[in-house]
Amino acid sequence: MSSVTVIYRSPFETAICSSDAAINIDNPRYPPQIRGMPEDLEGVVATATRLSHVDGKAGRLTIAGYAVEDLAPYASFEEVAYLLLHGRLPEPAERVRFTQDLAGRRALSRLVLEVLHEAAATQARPIDALRMAAALLSLGREESAGDDAMTAIASFPTIVGAYWRALNGQEPVPVRSDLPHAAHYLHQVFGAEPSTERARALATYLNTVCDHGLNASTFAARVIVSTRSDVISAITGAVGALKGPLHGGAPGPALDMVFEIGTPERAESVIRAKLDRGERLMGFGHRIYRVRDPRADVLARAAERFYASGGDQRLYDLAQQVEATALRLLRERKPERRLETNVEFYTALLLHGLGFPSELFTPTFAVGRVLGWSAHCLEQLRDGRLIRPQSAYIGPTGLHYDRGPARPAV
Ligand code: ACO
Repeated sequence: MSSVTVIYRSPFETAICSSDAAINIDNPRYPPQIRGMPEDLEGVVATATRLSHVDGKAGRLTIAGYAVEDLAPYASFEEVAYLLLHGRLPEPAERVRFTQDLAGRRALSRLVLEVLHEAAATQARPIDALRMAAALLSLGREESAGDDAMTAIASFPTIVGAYWRALNGQEPVPVRSDLPHAAHYLHQVFGAEPSTERARALATYLNTVCDHGLNASTFAARVIVSTRSDVISAITGAVGALKGPLHGGAPGPALDMVFEIGTPERAESVIRAKLDRGERLMGFGHRIYRVRDPRADVLARAAERFYASGGDQRLYDLAQQVEATALRLLRERKPERRLETNVEFYTALLLHGLGFPSELFTPTFAVGRVLGWSAHCLEQLRDGRLIRPQSAYIGPTGLHYDRGPARPAV
């Protein structure tokens, strides 16, 4: 047995490999004795969770027992937050208390506002400003996992709103505790109370992206908190993981592609040219889904409703044509790999329709996903142990360090 096999054993007592885990059998990067290992943890079950389940073959996402399409378009964000943090939907009185508790944590400290102001002076990207401000949420408070989680969930909309306004030379909007979470976020960014339709569309988005199995940022959060570090540290690290274009950074480029195409007749030539240059089409493909991402359907329906009620219908139609062309060309280019629409494509369209600039797409994803990160941190603290996989060493061995007489001792 090769020494590498231990990867499946000691770090994760319950770790098992799915049937398609051995994807790497012929990867020439690895010496023969470790070929057959799943690359980059693909297919490895690293933990057990009650929070969400992604069925990549059937294209189903279950959030704490509910299919995403049954829950996200109808529940309030507060209900979904209660569901993930407490394992069931709230009774009416619990819902009122929980909503008040969350709303009471929205205001930012003077220091956070000052840091955001300084960050705006350097034109920092909103997602970087969010990461900086997230790290400060523990300042002056007793460390407590449950409180940290609630405070982070409640504060993220205020941070993003205040920062966006600072970046545009505007004062932050005073926090209103009477607005539901999604409406509060729109109010913080745009400075006006949103219509019911806009608040509903955003709540649907936040609910849709609030959790998604052991995605990269959630895994990062669980790894951090598995050391018995604190929830704010874990959430700060998760924002960093979300920022990357292969994870939460895709919707901006996805919308850019639709704008670059401009008219349906150009879709084929622009997409073909991208694929010829070896570019990835943002908003397509997924590590887990081999069919269409169910979140794309939920958001496509939300976007359709929203655009039909007064948005730019021409843009919605163009996006649909771009999607169809992209899928056709991806099938043509990669018949062996099913590349379907992912959540980011319709995220871009919906958030754009709601008036969000593309710089706020990833921070808005974080406003939803901070709920999942928080719930995973609490679950990891309750049930988990230190997450500590192993690496396969493929570097040189037996090199000799020449201490030579002329080298000064340090
Ligand atoms: N466009 C064109 N080709 C693609 C795409 C794409 N969107 N996605 C994968 N491929 C190709 C790859 O180039 C690769 O081709 P090769 O074998 O010739 O090198 C093949 O398909 C397999 O790609 P992998 O990188 O192994 O696929 P993986 O499962 O690691 O990637 C990922 C998943 C990162 C999401 C990928 O599909 C991608 O880069 N998509 C675009 C970015 C994006 O939309 N990200 C958001 C994902 S959803 C989320 O995180 C919330």
